[in-house]
Amino acid sequence: MGRIVYLDGQYLKEDEAKVSIFDRGFLFGDAVYEVTAVINGKLVDNEGHMIRLQRSCNELQIALPVPLAEITNIQKELIKKNALNEGGIYLQISRGSAGDRDFGYPTDVKPTLVLFTQARELLNSSKATKGMKVITTEDIRWKRRDIKTVGLLAPCMAKQAAIEKQVDDAWLIEDGYITEGSSNNAYIVTQDGVLVTRPLSNDILHGITRKALLELAEKESIKIEERLFTAEEAYQAAEAFVSSATTFVWPVIEIDGHTIGDGKPGNVAKKLREIYIELATKTAE
Ligand code: PDD
Repeated sequence: MGRIVYLDGQYLKEDEAKVSIFDRGFLFGDAVYEVTAVINGKLVDNEGHMIRLQRSCNELQIALPVPLAEITNIQKELIKKNALNEGGIYLQISRGSAGDRDFGYPTDVKPTLVLFTQARELLNSSKATKGMKVITTEDIRWKRRDIKTVGLLAPCMAKQAAIEKQVDDAWLIEDGYITEGSSNNAYIVTQDGVLVTRPLSNDILHGITRKALLELAEKESIKIEERLFTAEEAYQAAEAFVSSATTFVWPVIEIDGHTIGDGKPGNVAKKLREIYIELATKTAE
């Protein structure tokens, strides 16, 4: 692979981009990130991702190394340089390197900005047509899941547990209720056709795709309840699905070995995926 990546003002070959061993992203996970989908060479819902990036930085007192508008220029330049048609752009800002390891936030440190592209099929995905299987596992993450930090070991462990059980992903449980998926927001549709998803709080990431989907669902006159739900309620649901920038909507057809609905992607999930993609394609820039 010969991608061109971005590091602190420079466009470099991927194997030439190097970050200090004292970078706090590396030492402490002291960094935030965003993933924006790309379809037809254009950024999907990027403004939402930029607003969340700013919020994550504010919560951690990390100063943006360049203005948000400049970050978007870099995203677009990378799409061009890598001739990316479909996939995503990963971007990460770490607090930077103070030249040694010390817990307190250093002053006078320059944040490290990294961006790279990832080519992958988003529109034609087998998970979208066949649906995915998930297990549930304890949510052992920290208490500020609203901040999109790179401290992702707990989700990696959850995902690995899923892989070892030969399923696709894990839904996380705290105090008996589903919080979200390892890297996506989680939803069920009850037998009465009500779309249920956990309300926004520090317990979950405030998904950009989630926001768009709930607006679309409302326009479709789908009844929405933002409330807690258990794994047991999910086993009995008519449908289940997840959302994220890189999945859009993926139906869930099995949870902990329980078949959801008739074991096929449900109509609400299919409809929301279809109208989300329609909107995303129309508004991508
Ligand atoms: N993950 N919840 C978690 C824990 C996530 O990591 C993500 C996104 C989401 C969905 O958010 P959005 O719709 O804004 O992508 C919810 C990204 C895609 C990732 O880590 O690769």
